[in-house]
Parts: sequence; C-alpha cells; structure tokens
Amino acid sequence: MKKLMTIIALGTLVAASAAAQPKLTKDNIDEVLAAMTLEEKATLVVGAGWGSMAAGSMTASSKVLVPGAAGTTVPIERLGIPATVLSDGPAGLRIDPRRKDDPNTYYCTGFPVGTVLACSWDAPMVEELLAAMGNEVLEYGADVLLAPGMNLHRNPLCGRNFEYFSEDPFLSGKISAAYIRGIQSQGVGVSAKHFAFNNQEINRMANDARIPQRALRELYLKNFEIAVREGHPWTVMSSYNKVNGTFTQQSADLLTTVLRDEWGFDGIVMTDWGAKEGTVAAVQAGNDLMEPGMPFEKQRIIDAVNDGSLDIADLDRNVRNILQYIVKTPRFAGYKYSNKPDLQAHAALVRKAAADGMVLLRNEGDALPFEGVKNIALFGLNAYKSIAGGTGSGNVNKPYVRHISEGLQEAGFALDEKIANLYKTYREYQNAEDANASFLPGQALGGGLSLGEGVMPEMDVRKAVVQNSVDRNDAAIVVIGRNAGEGDDRVLEGDFDLTPAERDLITNVCNLYHQAGKKAVVILNVGGVIETASWKNLPDAILLAWTPGQEVGNSVADILTGVSNPSGKLSMTFPLNYLDIPSSANFPYYKPQPQKGGAGDFAALAAAMGYKIPEPKPVKDYDYTDYAEGLNVGYRYFNTNDVEVSYPFGYGLSYTSFEYGKPSVKSSKDGITISISVKNTGKVAGKEAVQIYIAAPAGGLEKPACELKAFAKTGQLQSGESQTLTMKITPYELASFNDAACRWETAAGTYKVLVGASVEDIRAVASFKIGKALAWEANPALLLTNE
Ligand code: BGC
Repeated sequence: MKKLMTIIALGTLVAASAAAQPKLTKDNIDEVLAAMTLEEKATLVVGAGWGSMAAGSMTASSKVLVPGAAGTTVPIERLGIPATVLSDGPAGLRIDPRRKDDPNTYYCTGFPVGTVLACSWDAPMVEELLAAMGNEVLEYGADVLLAPGMNLHRNPLCGRNFEYFSEDPFLSGKISAAYIRGIQSQGVGVSAKHFAFNNQEINRMANDARIPQRALRELYLKNFEIAVREGHPWTVMSSYNKVNGTFTQQSADLLTTVLRDEWGFDGIVMTDWGAKEGTVAAVQAGNDLMEPGMPFEKQRIIDAVNDGSLDIADLDRNVRNILQYIVKTPRFAGYKYSNKPDLQAHAALVRKAAADGMVLLRNEGDALPFEGVKNIALFGLNAYKSIAGGTGSGNVNKPYVRHISEGLQEAGFALDEKIANLYKTYREYQNAEDANASFLPGQALGGGLSLGEGVMPEMDVRKAVVQNSVDRNDAAIVVIGRNAGEGDDRVLEGDFDLTPAERDLITNVCNLYHQAGKKAVVILNVGGVIETASWKNLPDAILLAWTPGQEVGNSVADILTGVSNPSGKLSMTFPLNYLDIPSSANFPYYKPQPQKGGAGDFAALAAAMGYKIPEPKPVKDYDYTDYAEGLNVGYRYFNTNDVEVSYPFGYGLSYTSFEYGKPSVKSSKDGITISISVKNTGKVAGKEAVQIYIAAPAGGLEKPACELKAFAKTGQLQSGESQTLTMKITPYELASFNDAACRWETAAGTYKVLVGASVEDIRAVASFKIGKALAWEANPALLLTNE
C-alpha cells in the first residue's frame, strides 16, 4: 500500500513538472498552482526552519537571507517562487546587528513598545511613526514584520503586555490598524499576532483559554476585527494556546468562519513559532503557513493527501493564499534593499513620539517642568542603565540606549557624582558576583528566550547617604525599573509591588528632600502596571516613562525640561490593589512555571538547539484559564461597579490645561458624528486626547456603564488656541454581542455621549437616539461547551 502511494506521489510529481513550468507573476497564480506537484505545495506551506535557515528547502540553497530574522518561506525556483523573509517585531525589526566577516552593522531602531504607542491616543502619529519602522523592514530585506502584538491587557501580570496595546479593544484595534497601515505603507507586510487569546505566558503553548462567548467576541476578538477591517494586514499569526478546547491554529471557527467569512480577511495565517501535532488539522482550519517549519510537517501533509485524510482542495486554497501573498512582497519584485535605513532620522522621530506616550501621573505644585534646578541627585539602578523595551522576541538589537542619566546630562543638568558612583560600583559588583542570580523575580531573561536584559533588584541606599546628598543638590529623582518578556509572566511580590529597598528609597528621598524644601520626582521606567496607591502621594511628581525605545533618556529629559509637554494617557487602569482586578482570581501569578510539553515537537526541537527548558512540574492549575470575569476587564469593571482605582483608564496630566466646548452630535443613517472644540487655557503649548464614552439605553443587553467608542487628539495647541475634533461612530460600533441569539445588536433608545479627559473625568455630556433596533448575524463559533 505504502509503495503504491509513493508511486502515485512520484507519478504526480513527474506529470506536473513535465507538464508545465510557468514562472510566477501577479496574474498567473492559478496556472502556477496547477503546475505544482504535491511535494511543492507541501513545501510552500511549511517554512524553512528556525532562524531563516533553508533547512527543508527544495532548492539546495542554504543561504541565510537576513541573519537573525525569525523565518522564511521556502523558494521553488522552478516556478519562479522566491523565499520571503519574516522577522520580529513589534518595537522595531529584530535581526542580527553584526554578520560574520562583514564590517558593516545592521542595527535597527528601538521604537517605543506597543503600550507606549497606545498611550499616545494618537492614531495618525502612530501611522506616521510606523512608516519609519516599515522602512527599516524594507531596507534590511525583510518582507513581513511579525507585529503588531495586540492581545488585550486582561491582567497586568501578563509578561508580554508591554508589546500589547490596551485593556480596551476599541483603543487597541484603532492603534493596531494605524500601526499596520504605517508599516504596510512601505510595501512590506505585517503579521498581527497572536490570534488569539494569548493573554498569559505561563503554559502558553498548551493553556486552554476558556472564554464565554460574549467576552470572546466583544473583548478578545474585537481589536483583531477592527485591525483586520481597517488595517488589512497581509498576514495574521495564530497563537500557541487553545481556546475553548481547540488550538487556535487548528480552529476553523477562528481562522475561517470568523476571520475570513465574517471579517473578510484575505491574507495568510501563519502559526506562531513551533510545531504541534495537528499539522493536518491546521491546514484544514485555514492556517496557511507553518512557521518556522519542520520537514516532518511537510511529510505529514503529503501523507495525509495521499491517504485521503486531507482534501487537496484545502491544501490548494492555502497554497493559493500564499502565492497571493508572495506576489506582493518586495522580494518578489526584486527590490534592491540598501541595508542603510536612515537610523539617525528615525531616532529623532522616536525621541519625540516617546514623549507623546509618556504619562504624567502626578505634578503637585507644578514641580515639573523643572525650574531653577541644576544639580540633581539621581537614584535608582535604571537611571544609569535604562530600559528601552522588553525581553524575548520583542527585543530589538538597537545601536544604543540613551540612558536617563545621559539624557539629563545632555540637557544641562549636573548629576551628583557620589550617587552616580554608588550605582556604578554596585552594578559592577553585582555583575562580577552573579548577574543572572540577581534578577528580580519574573524578570530574568524571558523564559527560554535569552533576548534582552533582565532588571537587577534595586540596592539598599542608607538614609544617611540620601541625607548627605540633600545639601549638594536642588532636587532628587528616583527611577524605578521593571521589565518582562516572552516566556514568563510577572509576579506580584517585588514586581507588581515595590521591593522593600524601593519603598525605603522613595520614602527617604521624598521626606528628606521635602524637609529641605526641595522637590522629589519619581520616574517609572517600567513595561507594565505596578502598584502605586501606597506611595503615590510622597513625590511631587510621577512620570510614567514606560519603556519607550532607545531614546529613553532624551525623551525623559525633554519632559523634565519642558521641551516636550507630556500628552500620554493611560491605555489601562492602575488599580489600588492587584487583587481588585477580577481576573486575578484566575491568573496563575503566584509561581512562575516552566512551559508544559503540550507543544508537541517543540521541546525536543528546543533541546536540539541548545535552549534550556526546565523540567516540567505538575501544572494542573495551568492547563486552562477560566475567563470567569467575562466582560469585567479594566474600566468596564471598575467604572461600572464604582470601585476606586489608583489611576483610571484614560488618565494623564499635562503642563497646560484644556477647556472642552459644548459637543455637537449629528445623526445620519451611517452613524453619528460628534464634534467638540478643545481650547488650551494654560500657559504652554500642548496636546489633548479626547475620549468619547457611550452609555447605552436600558432595554437592550446589559452593558458596562460606558464604553470607549471614539477618540482623537488635538495637534500642538498654543496657549489660547482652540481646535475642533470630529469623530464618527457607526451603528455597528455600538453593538454588543447577544450570545443567546448569536448576533450583534444595537438597541433602540437614547444613548448618552460622555466626552471625557479620562473615563472618570467627563467634561461634557450629549445624547442621540437610535430609532430602530439593529442586528448583525454572526456564526455560532468558538463556543465554550458548557455555555
Ligand atoms: C513568539 C512570536 C514571535 C516568534 C518568532 C514566538 O516565540 O511568540 O511573537 O514572532 O516567536 O520569533
């Protein structure tokens, strides 16, 4: 039997290759498909192996196209099908900065991480900035950037939240769409990831996200829906995890029914990096490309077609999708990339954009921008070694990181040398002892992926040292650092919460400087939410600088000097306590666990590549995660239930003040148009992000008290200057998902328009009516079996 199949397979190969040898063009995709042998088809849907090696390639070519890229598709020279290059993402292009026997360097700009982009609330700015990143993708010879990372911030301890945008699907979706348009404006593609429900890193390869239908549709898929409809990504990356019992890469419900049939996606879906047992199920589900690709995956496909368990029509559909993708790529067009993008120009853009996403959390007595401050006592290890971005595959090999200490010095401040030396000596000592052993919990080098740097725990600074510095300086700054990354989640103790050393440092610095009538400022150089409620009243000012890219020091200095006026607002809630967050009841934060072996072939593969995978421990509790909180994520919970928070969603201060006019609301059959004028009533120029929350009428589905449905940011307004912002909301955007009827519904009645500076700071209210209830049918898909 087996022999017979081999003969049939060989027969197909000979017949097809003898028959036709068309070369791929944009217009002959069907002809090329018809000319392909089964083996060639299987080759095209399975990538070339780890690290863009050409392992498994049909052509003997073993040339690495772009060293350090994550993977490639396999070329089929006979038919004029080139390899294409896929590379991470998302805070810049990740490729090797140096090549063997090559004096040139290939550094890429370290852009602000996704969270910072979302906190800008400025979709046009994001689109423009990301064109610069797209240009680096193009000029370094990659075809697709594996980005944006756009899973929702379900819980602040997710180790990859920094790559992701927000707790709100509307903000996340709109910023993602802008990100995608920016990159793709350069003629290269993106891979929106991780589709979907990759909201934790613990056991990410096998965890089953058990999500009730309404939350699944309204929260976790909504941002992808917006990104697909408005950004038109070339590719989407399925995630590692399961959803309601099925691996996402093997879910026809997700990849075909929802993504293609409902949303009209017309690109390719690729797996996240690692093979699973269900290759054939993945092909059937509409997962076009297996990445990074293993020879046995190809064999499984060939065998399944031959034994009749895989319909060739399914394979053909995926191959056609891949050919349609390939003809769009710069590599297909033979683009001569320069390897010389304008890194200097991009650094200047990053310096500015980072300040747009930083959030001023507190500014008592207008402590910032500094006036009359020259000498600064700069405390905190990360002041001298600042964090530009996260670890794992999201780490970018950037030419440099401008540390906060350097930025302040360049801006003309004099840093206290004794304090600076203290930190320098401590770091050297720790590094000499055992740097790895001294990382904060959950912050070591991103699980198995040693990319990027962990954060050293803050050192104890004796009170007398702080006291002695007071006379020598005009003000003090404390920098608190946190980082995280792929492969691990963050933990509560010493990560979400401050460490005792950090707590003492903030307390002593604030008290002793205040006693002398001097200012104390805290800068948070963090990748995600931390606890602030217990200490936030101590400093005069708190700047949430995030991990904003390679210019971190200069961007911070621009804000401290007033060159930039901070205009970022939170894209997530800062709770009073971690346990206030509903999902904390179902988030395995308390002990980091190694990956479970559910990834099929991944463990063996990783071992072969020298990755150290810790011994699996019993991880019963992490086999699945119940999303029992349903819609109670972020402000949808806190605001609806009047639960006090430390800083609400949408919050952020400015050096100036803004007055909101009376909103005008016009209805038409296409939706409503809201216009509002915003006036800068303060003394300095600045920008304001205006947020439109909608409160739905009673009578329809029960909804959160209000939901974000539009936002816009002013340009730089001079003192006294006004701008009218106009925003549109379609009837479909107002809809909620009725899980019993399996459809989107917009109820009839009077809707309230809440125009806010944050979800808790509503500046103007208006209303509009929807005369007739509206509904949009959906398919029963991805159901939780006990629903
Ligand atoms: C990550 C993806 C990344 C891929 C390629 C995976 O481990 O989850 O986000 O794009 O590796 O590096």
